[in-house]
Amino acid sequence: MQLCVALDLEKKEDNLSLLQELKGLDLWAKVGLRSFIRDGAVFLDEIRKIDGNFKIFLDLKLYDIPYTMANAALECAKLEIDMLTVHLSSAKSALTILMQRLNALKKRPLIMGVSALTSFSEEEFLSVYNAPLKTQAITLSAMGKESGIDGVVCSVFESLAIKEALGKNFLTLTPGIRLNKNDKEDQERVANAKEAKQNLSDFIVVGRPIYQAKEPREVVLELLKDC
Ligand code: C5P
Repeated sequence: MQLCVALDLEKKEDNLSLLQELKGLDLWAKVGLRSFIRDGAVFLDEIRKIDGNFKIFLDLKLYDIPYTMANAALECAKLEIDMLTVHLSSAKSALTILMQRLNALKKRPLIMGVSALTSFSEEEFLSVYNAPLKTQAITLSAMGKESGIDGVVCSVFESLAIKEALGKNFLTLTPGIRLNKNDKEDQERVANAKEAKQNLSDFIVVGRPIYQAKEPREVVLELLKDC
């Protein structure tokens, strides 16, 4: 299991100093909407300049009509990132076209489809998708697999069922990781890193428990023990 650190801090400098502190560890740097909108693509070069050997995960959760999504994904691939997220609810036609276009490249990022946001409760999910969360997460993931994507973003609680339905090689990436389950903030379905591993998660995403800690490197070292 691999650890992705969410760079969701208020200032670019704070995100970069967090990475400086984490230099030398085997980690993915996750650049989400906040950082990418504020700091742009040059931020990715600044991460590379730290020379920490971080893999770059661009978490933009693309969701649009097929050609718009495919073109946006191609632009992301030009930034030489290692992983990108898209929404599974953008549906099979969009995901299939996007993968056809990306597969024509010499090198492409891993494409991970968001099934159900980890902030969704059962009731909230039902109100949007009109289906129970777990079954719908599996249905959406199966559609994602048929479209040729590499894996899905889900909570720890769906990871095992998705692996059982679609095979071990179909990747799962699980946010909503907490050291202490009472610290949920805006997340709903939270679990710890050990549980993520037991549920065969390939990647965990951790933000606030790391960057709000007094000693972020210590927290990361603890998390890496469970990976
Ligand atoms: O601070 P926290 O550990 O909750 O951060 C989780 C990170 O993972 C955030 O950057 C959030 O955008 C992202 N994420 C998520 N749920 C998803 C996909 C991504 O929480 N389904």
